[in-house]
Amino acid sequence: MFPLLSKDANIYISDNLKEDIQKLIMNFPKDKIFLLTDEGAYEYCFPKVFPLEGISEERVLVIPQGDSNKSIETTQKVWHFLSHSGADRKSLLINLGGGMPCDLGGFAASTFKRGIQFINIPTTLLAQVDASIGGKTGVNFEGFKNEIGVFNQASAVLIDTSFFDTLDSQNMVSGFAEMIKHCLIYSKESWEKLKQFDIHNPDMEVLQDLVASSIMIKNHFVQNDLREQFLRKALNFGHTFGHAFESLALKSGRPVLHGYAVAYGMICELYLSHLRLNFPMSAVVEISNYLKKVFGVFEIEKADFDELFRLMGHDKKNEDNRINFTLLDNIGKMQVNINATEAEVIETFEFYMNL
Ligand code: GLY
Repeated sequence: MFPLLSKDANIYISDNLKEDIQKLIMNFPKDKIFLLTDEGAYEYCFPKVFPLEGISEERVLVIPQGDSNKSIETTQKVWHFLSHSGADRKSLLINLGGGMPCDLGGFAASTFKRGIQFINIPTTLLAQVDASIGGKTGVNFEGFKNEIGVFNQASAVLIDTSFFDTLDSQNMVSGFAEMIKHCLIYSKESWEKLKQFDIHNPDMEVLQDLVASSIMIKNHFVQNDLREQFLRKALNFGHTFGHAFESLALKSGRPVLHGYAVAYGMICELYLSHLRLNFPMSAVVEISNYLKKVFGVFEIEKADFDELFRLMGHDKKNEDNRINFTLLDNIGKMQVNINATEAEVIETFEFYMNL
């Protein structure tokens, strides 16, 4: 395994999964190491990491999968499990799986006995380039996504793209949306390189390099702004519209994976960037058509506009009753805390609908 960036970021690219995990856990007391995973990762990814010296099967907890289980009730199960299995302040929790077990496990660990250490071993593309990096932990609450949680960095994140052997194509494409976002907010050069990559027919060696670059970009925005006061807000590009699409899709019984919703959100926020910051229209059209080709379309009608606008008003990132966007002057040149009028948002829906 080798550290990505400086050693302090504690993000490692693995070349021998079991051996690398063993190295990461060697300083923890043997009977105090626990592993959390969900049903999907237990079936497909756990066999790649287990058995592990120092962790017996009874210190492994498997939780149900899916965003609906990213809840306080599931967190309580983790606390209960840790509490009744002799976990103490010196314990370590390893979170193995996609964004859900990493977010929930990070939150459970951060709050158990006022905080124990945790390691993330993300197994999906989305979790490797986004969810497992940067210390956002938490769960959904009363219908709001990630409503309860804390900022707390994992002690280490171990990246191994061989987990993708068992990942379905839709989840690969979903994770790719966050990689696109990273490039668009960071630099023209990274975007030009990424758009050559065919995520529907991925070359896994090339993907490993692209994943490493994507993590470095995310880390650039997070490292000096863990609590999202300014620079980290760049990572919200595509997400204000995206979250509204994601909620509407769920409500209307045609759910889409997070990354797909972010891709549709990026189309809208590119157009809004044109309206508010003069982002070149030719690039809006070119990138939007590219996104449409990779992610397909999520159809909306005029009748959905009010509901989408209402959903955007619920976004956690809003302040003082204003809808907040991260927009672009140009590729690699972002601006945070940009507002828009309702008329501009409606015009944006119209652009999206007619693309
Ligand atoms: N997923 C956005 C962030 O970590 O800030």
